[in-house]
Amino acid sequence: MERTIVLVKPDGVQRGLIGEIIHRFERKGMKLVGLKMISLDDAILDEWYIHHKDKAFFGNLKEYMMSYPVVAMLWEGKNVVVTIRKIIGITLARQAEPGTIRGDFAMSQQYNLIHASESLEIAKKEEKLIFSDSEIFDWDKLDHSHVYTKEELG
Ligand code: CMP
Repeated sequence: MERTIVLVKPDGVQRGLIGEIIHRFERKGMKLVGLKMISLDDAILDEWYIHHKDKAFFGNLKEYMMSYPVVAMLWEGKNVVVTIRKIIGITLARQAEPGTIRGDFAMSQQYNLIHASESLEIAKKEEKLIFSDSEIFDWDKLDHSHVYTKEELG
């Protein structure tokens, strides 16, 4: 099973959408294996957004991500990287598809509520930046046999 990182960004925390966001992934059948509130700092964000460091919006992005705490989650499931990216919708939230999180709750390109890892490789890197081993829980989700077939569970 894959694991991926989700952050409820400062605007999502301020707007009271933490529960709504968790609810969407839970209802889908994904397994939550890590959860915490954290204040991001300069060092984490320089590494996190290394691919945006030359963009004009980089300074604003970092300031915004440090403005209030974020809620970090680690979700597990089959192909969760791609599936979660679909559920959150595109970056430019006002054009995101209705039914996606950004499509239903946001209007901005920067204040787009939520982050989800872009690829499995990036998910592994982000997991290490946020969670220590003792903060990740390998528990048995008893409804898995109703969420996946035996073949899918392997
Ligand atoms: P996300 O795609 O999760 O990761 C990069 C973030 O940078 C993005 O969400 C937005 O919050 C922000 N971002 C991307 N493009 C812009 C932009 N043109 N102006 C301001 N912020 C942006």
